[in-house]
Amino acid sequence: MKIYALYNLKGGVGKTASTVNLSYYSALDGKRTLIWDFDPQGSASFYFKVKSKFNKGGIKGILNEETDLQDAIMETDYENLDILPADQSAKSLDILHDELTANKKLIKTLLNNLKKDYDNIFIDCPPGLSSLALNIFNAADLVLMPVIPTTLSVRTYHMVKDYFKDKDIEGSRLKCFFTMADLRKNLHKEVMEELYSDKKFFDNYIPYLSDVEKMGVHLAPIGVYAKNSYAAQCYMDLWSEIKKI
Ligand SMILES: Nc1ncnc2c1ncn2[C@@H]1O[C@H](COP(=O)(O)OP(=O)(O)OP(=O)(O)O)[C@@H](O)[C@H]1O
Ligand SMILES: [Mg+2]
Repeated sequence: MKIYALYNLKGGVGKTASTVNLSYYSALDGKRTLIWDFDPQGSASFYFKVKSKFNKGGIKGILNEETDLQDAIMETDYENLDILPADQSAKSLDILHDELTANKKLIKTLLNNLKKDYDNIFIDCPPGLSSLALNIFNAADLVLMPVIPTTLSVRTYHMVKDYFKDKDIEGSRLKCFFTMADLRKNLHKEVMEELYSDKKFFDNYIPYLSDVEKMGVHLAPIGVYAKNSYAAQCYMDLWSEIKKI
């Protein structure tokens, strides 16, 4: 079982879009795949048209072991693809703070119980560097960070790298890819050139494409409504590169 966390300290960089599309291609490979929507905004759950069975207490209940993780998992419309939806209990991550600081390996331990059931797990993280982020970093085999190639993103990228060092988390577990890249913009090209030399970035990147935005209209992964599009190809190529690690 491999655990991938889609993470960035910054919001609105394509974490959820990437979670949805990469997990879809993982499932299409025939791998039993689970998405854990850890973002209280519940965007990944929304894209899969799934609502938590637990109005309240779902994620909170799982973390304090009152709710069985397996009970909260739901099927999506797609073969091999399940989801653990977001719910109101994680509305404010402060509520989960006690559980997550008391045991920094809590999420890892919980997910270990799913080893027999899934090949790949994708965690859609909320932005921020919280006790939740640290817990997720400890659980993930790979932290996948989408980065928009702009100046501010470079700064955040370095902040996350430093955080890994500070917390003694193996740096090799952090891997990045560019999203919403626009090669007509010199700034994007320059930032990409600079950061590619850092060897932390996948070669494949996701350009700024309206087919990605349309996920909000179709409420489905791109591979469902625009199977042969360039956007679908970009996510497929990125997944091919990620799964080799
Ligand atoms: N490659 C892309 N091209 C064009 N639009 C994109 C692309 N990737 C994401 N978007 C759009 O940008 C917005 C933010 O994307 P997304 O929700 O995936 O980011 P996020 O990092 O999960 O945000 P949050 O931090 O709020 O959870 C969405 O409206 C999405 O449709
Ligand atoms: Mg998101």
